[in-house]
Amino acid sequence: MWLSRRPAAPAGPVGTAGHRPPAPPREVMRIHDAAFASRPLNPMQELAYRGAEGVIFAPHGEGWRRLRGICATELLSARRVRSFRPVREDEAGCLLRAVAAAAAAGAPVNLGERVAAYIADATVRAIIGSRFERRDAYLRMLQEGLKIVPGMTLPDLFPSSRLARLVSRAPAQIERHRRGMQQFIDAIIAEHRESRASGKDSDDDEDLLDVLLRLQKEVDSQYPLTTENIKTVMLDMFGAGSETSATTLQWAMAELMRNPRVMRRAQDDVRRALADHGKVTEDKLANLHYLPLVIKETLRLHPPAPLLLPRRCGSPCQVLGFDVPKGTMVIVNAWAIGRDPAHWDEPEEFVPERFEASGRDFRGTDFEFIPFGAGRRMCPGIAFGLAHIELALAALLFHFDWELPGGMAAEELDMTESFGVTTQLQSDLVVVAVPRVPMCIE
Ligand code: HEM
Repeated sequence: MWLSRRPAAPAGPVGTAGHRPPAPPREVMRIHDAAFASRPLNPMQELAYRGAEGVIFAPHGEGWRRLRGICATELLSARRVRSFRPVREDEAGCLLRAVAAAAAAGAPVNLGERVAAYIADATVRAIIGSRFERRDAYLRMLQEGLKIVPGMTLPDLFPSSRLARLVSRAPAQIERHRRGMQQFIDAIIAEHRESRASGKDSDDDEDLLDVLLRLQKEVDSQYPLTTENIKTVMLDMFGAGSETSATTLQWAMAELMRNPRVMRRAQDDVRRALADHGKVTEDKLANLHYLPLVIKETLRLHPPAPLLLPRRCGSPCQVLGFDVPKGTMVIVNAWAIGRDPAHWDEPEEFVPERFEASGRDFRGTDFEFIPFGAGRRMCPGIAFGLAHIELALAALLFHFDWELPGGMAAEELDMTESFGVTTQLQSDLVVVAVPRVPMCIE
């Protein structure tokens, strides 16, 4: 069932109150939110998860509610996100040094690759800390998993066909990957338990796995936090948090390269706010006015999960007068909604100013702008994701000016989107960095 549409409401000035919110997402994610609060699992996801309950694919119920509560109050709370500030600033420093090295050599830099590495490193350090010796190998394996699990494999397309399962290489690939992951995660958990038992670590330097292991000890006889839960939640955090944030960062830089006027304004914003400082630190980001608008506009035009995550109808209901039977898969097209001319003036243009007066936000109440979804299954990782995106974007704009390689004109930049669960730039963004504000290395 495809629930995106273009309502016939007349377009008014951008950001004014006269806009009618798109009815289908409101119906699915607010009015019938409880009925659509589960997710369908495709055959390959079932194989990968093997019933081990995490957050993302858990059926709506008490188990999911408990884990979701842990996300809200413990793993992804504002306080926890703040606690990872040193990790983010450290990894942002690595990103800047890599860019500066390319600039010093007079070479273009593959910014797509660099920002993906920054987000992945910072995310995995938040989840398992910095001690685990084989962290790089673990990270590579996580990234491989992102490529194979959600893919449109033959058994996903023909779920009832035994032949599709027999001829596809995907099940064996997933099984091999699953076993490899288990070994890694078992080793990481053992190392964390040992380290805690030795009393070397304090609660102040807890990573997300430490938090989960601590909560496991707080016995809840009805819904105990099993080690299987913990393993799946660790994968959920990386799976949901890394590619989405990296994709947003890359699209933001690509749009800035395509729109020199916006780039100038964003750089002025960052450089004015940080004029008296040699480096970008998170405590200074609150003074930025324009950069948050750039991020919003990026998420409007390029929601990293363009079709959000699918929902499954758990009890029959009526949507816009149509009967929706139990078991129906519902897909909400956030990409089309964000470009709907009924709600946005010049929807294809990158104009961050449209958010200046409108107050429209992505927190799940403005249904014409839902890059993080809405309702009870809405993304709980907004603060975590934005913290990474804002810091890196501000730092890249503060320290460098940017040009396209080989004298390419802004309008020639290839903005083709790739097809997948996340919508990425088909070709990585390759740009030339020109150092502007020297970095102070401590
Ligand atoms: C730009 C960054 C991000 C975007 C655009 C994004 C987007 C989304 C979307 C569209 C959903 C589905 C919402 C729905 O069904 O209504 C979702 C769910 C989820 N996201 Fe994010 N996300 C981002 C970052 C993160 C981060 C950094 C984390 C954690 C570290 C995270 C954790 C989750 C989880 C656990 C869910 C599943 C929630 C549930 O099913 O109850 N996300 N996200």
